[in-house]
Amino acid sequence: MAKLKVGVLISGRGSNMHALIEACRAPRFPATIAVVISNEPSAPGLAKAEAAGLKTVVIDHRQYTSRTDFETAIDATLREYGVGLVCLAGFMRLLTAGFVEVWQDRLINIHPSLLPAFKGLNTHARALEAGVRVTGCTVHFVRPEMDDGPIIVQAAVPVLPGDDPDALAARVLGMEHRCYPLALRLIAEGRARVVGNRVAVDGGKPTADGLINPSDKR
Ligand code: GAR
Repeated sequence: MAKLKVGVLISGRGSNMHALIEACRAPRFPATIAVVISNEPSAPGLAKAEAAGLKTVVIDHRQYTSRTDFETAIDATLREYGVGLVCLAGFMRLLTAGFVEVWQDRLINIHPSLLPAFKGLNTHARALEAGVRVTGCTVHFVRPEMDDGPIIVQAAVPVLPGDDPDALAARVLGMEHRCYPLALRLIAEGRARVVGNRVAVDGGKPTADGLINPSDKR
């Protein structure tokens, strides 16, 4: 079967993009990265993508007078490369409802919290401030509201005594790198279907294992 062609949108470091690149390297992985687009010319992720032999395109939002023109350029590039699924990977520009609707159910995002908790920025500092025992990450289909949309994959990590936002971010990031390739695979295999506001996963292995934190063991 033909592999799903993916366009990855980044703004920075690109570690999630890198996790997707690594996954796509496996011969039997059902997706391939057709293009990496960054709105930031200095994004470190661009060099990582180039080192992996991928096509990169910079579409600097500052060069456009309107958000719509900026998005029209992104849309045109995605089409030029025959992209069937767009993965936002640390892409830090809000997308308009128009763009999101055109790419409805073909546009996914990763967010470093257990959505719908802690939408937006500074998630880890806010999670620490709220005193939650468990946080995590979410891969979801994008809807016009920020950090909203049907959830494909989530993973939980514990919040540990002494955590600061950086320590917590690093623990969550480790899970992000596992969740994003999994979500991509489920979609590329046609196993993740949007049903209303939820995602049904065919043939998924549900788990009843909970993460209890703090431990109840004495
Ligand atoms: C990741 O933690 C990602 O979840 C987050 O930005 C980081 C990007 O890191 N995204 C958001 O906060 C989007 N709301 P990366 O560039 O190394 O993948």
